[in-house]
Amino acid sequence: MENRKRKTESGNAPTHVAIIMDGNGRWAEDRGLPRLKGHEEGARSVRAILRAAKKADVKYVTLYAFSTENWSRPKAEVDGLMKLLGHFMKRNAKELIEDKVRLRVMGQLERLPKKLQSQLEALMEKSAKDYERTLIIALSYGSRTEIAEAAKAIARKAAAGDLDPETVNEETVAQHLYLPDVPDPELMIRTSGELRLSNFLLWQLSYAELYVTDTYWPDFCEEQFFQALESFGQRGRRYGRI
Ligand code: IPE
Ligand code: IPE
Ligand code: MG
Repeated sequence: MENRKRKTESGNAPTHVAIIMDGNGRWAEDRGLPRLKGHEEGARSVRAILRAAKKADVKYVTLYAFSTENWSRPKAEVDGLMKLLGHFMKRNAKELIEDKVRLRVMGQLERLPKKLQSQLEALMEKSAKDYERTLIIALSYGSRTEIAEAAKAIARKAAAGDLDPETVNEETVAQHLYLPDVPDPELMIRTSGELRLSNFLLWQLSYAELYVTDTYWPDFCEEQFFQALESFGQRGRRYGRI
């Protein structure tokens, strides 16, 4: 219980919800539409879920938008997704600022198109001034890369004599991940029924509650988000105790 109080500031509601937004392609294929149409519809769900998160006062929302593995998709789909991300940022910048949402991005951002990089940087900077909640987009993100980068940074410090290897512990690793100041997600939602993590926040989700729904992401709406929160509220989190 002690642990839970520390991690969950708002009673039974999670402080941080992470979401694997999956099933856009199948949503489109079921309707005989191109996959990109599914991604477009998925962007609507993002807006709906951000509004729902505001109502529920969830302080941090992390959305898995594009994985390091997704770079292996056909070029047309990758290009379409990058364009869509740019449009999404443009269309939603005003609402994010008004809602006092700080935008943060985690992943190998240097692999993104330059234009998208500068767009994201501008919004990250603008939204960091006065905010109450945080939206984190995992973009060109892979958890194993993140952990490997952390190991590299720690090794460099040790080699330079700035860190005693004997002192390296869980906290040291956590402090070298992409966003060390963000609390771990207490709830991870995955849509489209797949029962896997797909290289998402492997370290940070160690003790998260998992919620998987068969609904494809474009059909995931406010009501289903609240159902996930409800389910979370009923879980007994034991952290290995009894
Ligand atoms: C999730 O939907 C969005 C991204 C991975 C970018 P998918 O594109 O994976 O949709 P499915 O899984 O093929 O249906
Ligand atoms: C995970 O979905 C990545 C995102 C939602 C961005 P994928 O569709 O890429 O994952 P797999 O291929 O089913 O593992
Ligand atoms: Mg998928």
